[in-house]
Amino acid sequence: MFEELFSKRTQAMKASEIRELLKLVTSDDIISFAGGLPNPKTFPASELADVCTTVLQEHQAKALQYGTTEGVLSLREEICKRMKRTIDLDVGPDNIVITSGSQQGLDLLGKMFIDPGDAIVVEAPSYLGAVGAFKSYEPNFVAIELDDDGMKIDLLEEQLANLKKRFVIPKFVYVVPTFQNPAGVTMTDSRRDKLVELSHEYDFIIIEDSPYENLRYAGKDIKPLIVKAPDRTLNLGTFSKTFAPGFRIAWTMGPADLVRKVVISKQSADLCTAPFSQFIIAEYMSRGLLDPHIEEIKKLYSTKRDIMLKALDENMPEEVSWTKPEGGLFLWVRAPSYVDTKDMFLRAIEKKVAYVTGTAFYGDGRGTNEMRLNFSFETDERIHTGVERLAEVLRDEIKRQSP
Ligand SMILES: Cc1ncc(COP(=O)(O)O)c(C=O)c1O
Repeated sequence: MFEELFSKRTQAMKASEIRELLKLVTSDDIISFAGGLPNPKTFPASELADVCTTVLQEHQAKALQYGTTEGVLSLREEICKRMKRTIDLDVGPDNIVITSGSQQGLDLLGKMFIDPGDAIVVEAPSYLGAVGAFKSYEPNFVAIELDDDGMKIDLLEEQLANLKKRFVIPKFVYVVPTFQNPAGVTMTDSRRDKLVELSHEYDFIIIEDSPYENLRYAGKDIKPLIVKAPDRTLNLGTFSKTFAPGFRIAWTMGPADLVRKVVISKQSADLCTAPFSQFIIAEYMSRGLLDPHIEEIKKLYSTKRDIMLKALDENMPEEVSWTKPEGGLFLWVRAPSYVDTKDMFLRAIEKKVAYVTGTAFYGDGRGTNEMRLNFSFETDERIHTGVERLAEVLRDEIKRQSP
């Protein structure tokens, strides 16, 4: 109804392919590696009642009132202190705007930088939510493949040189450099350095989306891009994976003049992010509860990751490979090129196991033989059984399709 009244932008919007497939994942007996949800066991419910009482007793007038668009000062200060402690980054409250989820941050950055037809660079595969948010501002996407070491920076360099010949410079390069969604891979330190070098040479902004930064289960920390290039990086962080996604509290951090523009852009989006939620997280952090809580989450997810990797090792046919994430919530499976994971999806559902098809994360037809698996949500036992089922489906598929 009223289709002809919709803007061109809205007319072009399509329901996501994943959503259509996931409608089939309805019953509890299907083991789902498809979602991207944190495990509800990680929600800090037991401490929240007391934290909420304190907020209501001590900050009622501000916590239940409209707030500033920048966000609650005490929360921004807590985030600054944590940045100094964890990554030795010197930032002040003016470098941070609180957003309603980092998803809102992505939308605001799209609004702030993209005119129709502007070139922007993303990873291939990339985080779907970002691609969707940017798409509504009608950019030309330049999608750069990644491997186990993150975005292939030599390909980016090549593309930048090609674009420059046509007088095109991308407005920004969007990356999820640490424990990427969907592939689970992490960009190496040397690729990060090269990306920063290119950002100076070509004068683009780096958008570093890092919701999984604190969820490392193995290996060594790598310096975030915001530490390497604080003058031209906008870093998005969130409490969705370390506290609770239901609070919808996240932040965009970067040079004060750019953050100021995000604030202006946010004013017309929602005036402010819910102050009550912000005060609760500020109180939780000021009591020193967040860091030990993150350690507990890491224990839970690290076990689940190990169980999934072991089950893959023990069960998958030898033609299949997968990434070995050192953190985050996802890993990425590659089947032989003749396997179509979309075609196989219904057969997987019959065997009561679900995943997300690779093509959903590219948008240009690539990824037909790939899939994303989430390991944070299912119980340990179901992860093991689910991988056994998936391996069986893949074995059948390879037998049927192998040329
Ligand atoms: C890479 C990435 N960016 C952003 C988000 C959105 O997070 P938020 O809950 O803070 O909106 C997600 C959520 O899964 C994500 O994986």
